[in-house]
Amino acid sequence: MKSIMPNEIKYENLVLRKLCKDDNLKIYEIRSNQDIAKYLDRPICQSLEEADNFITKVNNGISRGEYFYWGITLADENEVIGTICIWNISEDKTKGDIGFELLPAFRGKGIMTKSLRLIIDYAFQELNFDELFGEVDPQNGKSINLMKKHGFELFDENSSGPTVIYRLTKENYLI
Ligand SMILES: CC(C)(COP(=O)(O)OP(=O)(O)OC[C@H]1O[C@@H](n2cnc3c(N)ncnc32)[C@H](O)[C@@H]1OP(=O)(O)O)[C@@H](O)C(=O)NCCC(=O)NCCS
Repeated sequence: MKSIMPNEIKYENLVLRKLCKDDNLKIYEIRSNQDIAKYLDRPICQSLEEADNFITKVNNGISRGEYFYWGITLADENEVIGTICIWNISEDKTKGDIGFELLPAFRGKGIMTKSLRLIIDYAFQELNFDELFGEVDPQNGKSINLMKKHGFELFDENSSGPTVIYRLTKENYLI
């Protein structure tokens, strides 16, 4: 499937946009940040080269229509301060997992609340999804609160790890 991801989603003071090569420093900063990594099951990014490779991999996956991935920026600045994505998309393109992360300096301002709203709207209104899932460490209260605020409910334990799965259905989204 070819990509149908909009390169840019603008709303109020936020721009969610496709990553480019020049974002490597910020992607390195985000993916090597210990606080962000705390609850995420992924290796710490070790070099700019790894960040370059990550951006290439993400953009190739977007081109193939495998997932959606945006850098979060403030409207008057070009620097990526966080990311948000929809991945693990079902074959029939009706379900997917969300992922999000924000540099600590930009937290506590509602930036991810707004970004997640944009992505949820996009998934249900434009992609016509039926369900969105978020896999999370049960200790990750900030992330769980964020999802609950948007109508996600506890759905399941993850059979293969210590995480739990939250789910937002189209019915609950429409409420
Ligand atoms: C999860 C994460 C993105 C949440 O960041 P955040 O800034 O707390 O999220 P929000 O944008 O929703 O902001 C909510 C906070 O901003 C405050 N806020 C200020 N203005 C606000 C506004 N206009 N609207 C909403 N909230 C606002 C809220 O009161 C809340 O503060 P609190 O945490 O003290 O209660 C962040 O903790 C993170 O990146 N964690 C590491 C990565 C991670 O765990 N990802 C998820 C894996 S499943």
